[in-house]
Amino acid sequence: MDFIEIAKKRYSVRGYQDKKVEEEKLEKILEAAHVAPTAANLQPIRLIVVQSREGLAKIGKGANLYGAPLAVIVCADHGKAWVRPFDKKQTADIDASILTDHMMLQATELGLGSVWICYFKPDVISREFGLPDDLEPVNILAVGYSDEEAADPERHSQTRIPMEELVSYETV
Ligand SMILES: Cc1cc2nc3c(=O)[nH]c(=O)nc-3n(C[C@H](O)[C@H](O)[C@H](O)COP(=O)(O)O)c2cc1C
Repeated sequence: MDFIEIAKKRYSVRGYQDKKVEEEKLEKILEAAHVAPTAANLQPIRLIVVQSREGLAKIGKGANLYGAPLAVIVCADHGKAWVRPFDKKQTADIDASILTDHMMLQATELGLGSVWICYFKPDVISREFGLPDDLEPVNILAVGYSDEEAADPERHSQTRIPMEELVSYETV
């Protein structure tokens, strides 16, 4: 599949089959995260893979996983992230999101569904997983086999703002 085909095919899956994600597929998803770029290659991101019933229940106290059999909690160590010297902007959230996107698109390529989750209680996730103070859960990626009808890969002309609104060109 071409990259753009994968990007168009991906959609947020909010209903999953009761079927485990194969170990080989999980490894590929994690490899996609491993090769992702981070600012200054400082790699301030840590991933927690959750697949056990107990672990998923712990996440369930602070997030809705929509019944996914696998979740990756994407955590950022703000003390390790790059800081732009001019305005002190710190890029941990950006780095975390690049890894998340790599994993999400790799999951699509492997025939898996996923949904990116930010609507969660970070204090609950931190407590349940005993995260140290400097490690913030930024995103949760839920992954599994979709139990939904696939979204139309050509839906974006309806579901996204027009290109002209998204993009402007410099005036010369
Ligand atoms: C940063 C971010 C946070 C999101 N958080 C949630 C969430 O907490 N729960 C949820 O169901 N979907 C969440 N989504 C999924 C978006 O709602 C979804 O990607 C968007 O509506 C476009 O739909 P599509 O993914 O099917 O193309 C999130 C997506 C992004 C990029």
